[in-house]
Amino acid sequence: MSSSLHPADADSSFTLLEGRYLGLRPKQGRPKWLKLKTKSGKVKVRIPKPMRSWIAAELEPDALIQVWAKAKKKTYKAVQVIPTGGAAAIAPPPVKTEPMVHTLKVCMKGSCRKRGSGDVCRALEAARDQHPEGDAIRIEKTGCLKCCKKGPNVCVLPEKKLLHQVEVEQAERILAAY
Ligand code: FES
Repeated sequence: MSSSLHPADADSSFTLLEGRYLGLRPKQGRPKWLKLKTKSGKVKVRIPKPMRSWIAAELEPDALIQVWAKAKKKTYKAVQVIPTGGAAAIAPPPVKTEPMVHTLKVCMKGSCRKRGSGDVCRALEAARDQHPEGDAIRIEKTGCLKCCKKGPNVCVLPEKKLLHQVEVEQAERILAAY
């Protein structure tokens, strides 16, 4: 693995990874990681949502690629993927994109609070702090979401998706979707 500063960015936290593209993980469902074989071993890089369909459709296994990435808590997060050989006729890679911000509003009113929404809120905040894209996830307390009997309730924005009977143990799984 080679590593150097991004020439076009003053932010020294960018790292250049070079190697052979091994595919996406997981192979089925919603692939969130790209596997790369570098000179010093295999590396897993998280890829933002806007890049996933492009990579799945255009990159051939074994293609030589460069990945500009940000190192974050022992993992890498791609900001740009550039084919450099072995994969002809590849469309231009997407430029750096900002991840979509999700807000999880946790109801803290009477019924939900009695059912443990305070603990759920803390568990979501802890899971967010461990999440590779945690900067793009906000956890907020809110008032009654009008479905009190199904609490603790959480509303996910911008999708306006309501999650009912949320338990502390579900926090990591809920955040893994974003
Ligand atoms: S008290 Fe939580 S939805 Fe009403």
